[in-house]
Amino acid sequence: MNETSRVYLDNAASTPVDPAVIEAMMPFMVDHFGNPSSLHGSGRKASVAISKARSQVAKLINANPNEIYFTSGGTESNNLALVGYAKMVKRHRPDCNKILISEIEHESILETVSFLEKDLKFNINFIRTTSDGFIDLNSFGNLLSPETCLVSVMLVNNEIGTIQPVQSMINIIKKRQYKTIFHSDGVQALGKIPIDVRQMKLDMLSISSHKINGPKGIGALYIRKGISVEPILYGGGQEMSMRSGTENVYSIVGFGKACEIWKNRLQEANLNIKKLQDYTINRIINEIPESKINGSLQNRVVNNVNFSFKGINGEDLLVKLDEFGIEVSTGSACSSNKKKKESHVLRSLGLPHDEIAGSIRLSLGYQNTKTEMDFAINVLKNVINEFRNLNWSESSQGSDIVTSVP
Ligand SMILES: Cc1ncc(COP(=O)(O)O)c(C=O)c1O
Repeated sequence: MNETSRVYLDNAASTPVDPAVIEAMMPFMVDHFGNPSSLHGSGRKASVAISKARSQVAKLINANPNEIYFTSGGTESNNLALVGYAKMVKRHRPDCNKILISEIEHESILETVSFLEKDLKFNINFIRTTSDGFIDLNSFGNLLSPETCLVSVMLVNNEIGTIQPVQSMINIIKKRQYKTIFHSDGVQALGKIPIDVRQMKLDMLSISSHKINGPKGIGALYIRKGISVEPILYGGGQEMSMRSGTENVYSIVGFGKACEIWKNRLQEANLNIKKLQDYTINRIINEIPESKINGSLQNRVVNNVNFSFKGINGEDLLVKLDEFGIEVSTGSACSSNKKKKESHVLRSLGLPHDEIAGSIRLSLGYQNTKTEMDFAINVLKNVINEFRNLNWSESSQGSDIVTSVP
C-alpha cells in the first residue's frame, strides 16, 4: 500500500462498476441511443437490449422476465411495492388495513409506511428484533392477523448483514391461509446469497444495481404474476404500464450485465469474500481490546463487518480512517447525512448509546484483497489506540467524551 492508495470498504453503500458492465453500456450511449418506444431501427435495438437485460435480471432471482419492472433503484422499488399495493388494497380490499414491517428496515421502507399511515390511514405495526439482529418470529406470529394486507421485511439488513428468516415468515402466512402479500427489500441480498423467488414464494422483491457492480440510479421490482399493484408514476405506459417514463436504456443494459456476471461468480466470489470477512473479524477481536461485533455471526452475509469499540466515537473514527485512505461507514450511507442520527438498527438490537455511537461498518467487496485488509486493520488498531490514549488523558482532566481528532 502506498500513501495515495485508497482502501474502499463501503461496498454495502455502493460498488465500483465492473469494466465488463461499462463495456456493455457504452454502445447504448454512443451508437444505439434511440428511444425504445420508437419504431425505427435505433429504437428497436434499444428495445431488444431492454428485453435482454430483463431476462438477465430475472435469471439471477429465478423469476419470469415479464415479472421484472425496471425502476430508478431500490428506493423507488420499495415505494412502488408498498404504495402501489396499498393503493390497490384501498380500492379493492378496504377491510384489510394492517401493514407489518420490521424495526430494522431501510429508510425507504420506514418513510414510505409513515406516508401510508398519515395519508392513506393504514395501521402500521413493527415486528420486534432479537438482540442478535433477527426478526422475532413470535412477535411476527402475534402481530399477523387476517386484516394484514402486506408484510415487508428485508432479506438482509444493510447495517449488520443479518439474513432474515423471510422463508419462515412466508411459511407462517401460508399455513394460516391468509391473503397477506409478502414484499422483501432484497437490495443487500442480491449477489450475496442465492435468491429464488419461486422457491421462496415471494410476492414482491426490490433490487438495486449499484450494490452489485452495476451503475447507480437503476433497479427493479419483481412482482409475482397474479399480484395487482397500481403504478405510482403515470405517463406513456412504459414498463408494462407499471412505470411510465422513457427507459434508462444504458443503465438497464448495465444492470442486466451485472446480474449476468454475479449469476456466474456468486458462489466462488463469496467464498473468497467470506475468507476475508473471517480474517478481518478474528484480527479485530484478537487485536483490538474491548471491541464487540454487532449482529449474529451465524446467518450473516459474507461482506459485512460491524463493530462497536468502547470509548470511541464512530464518526471521529470514520474521519480519521479517511485521512489514511480507508473508506468505511457508520450506519447506513443513506442516513449518514442526517447529522447525529442514532442508528435505529442498533437501537432496535438494544445496544446502549455508547456502543451505538462507537460503531463502524466495514463492507467488503469483490475487489478487496488481504493486503488491503491488513493495511486497514493495522491503521484501525493504531487510530483506536491513539483515540483511547487521548480520551484517557482528557478524562483525567475531567472530560470523558472524545470530541476531536488527534
Ligand atoms: C436495504 C436497502 N434498501 C434500499 C436501499 C436503497 O437503494 P437505492 O440506493 O438503489 O435507492 C438501500 C441502499 O443503501 C439499502 O441498503
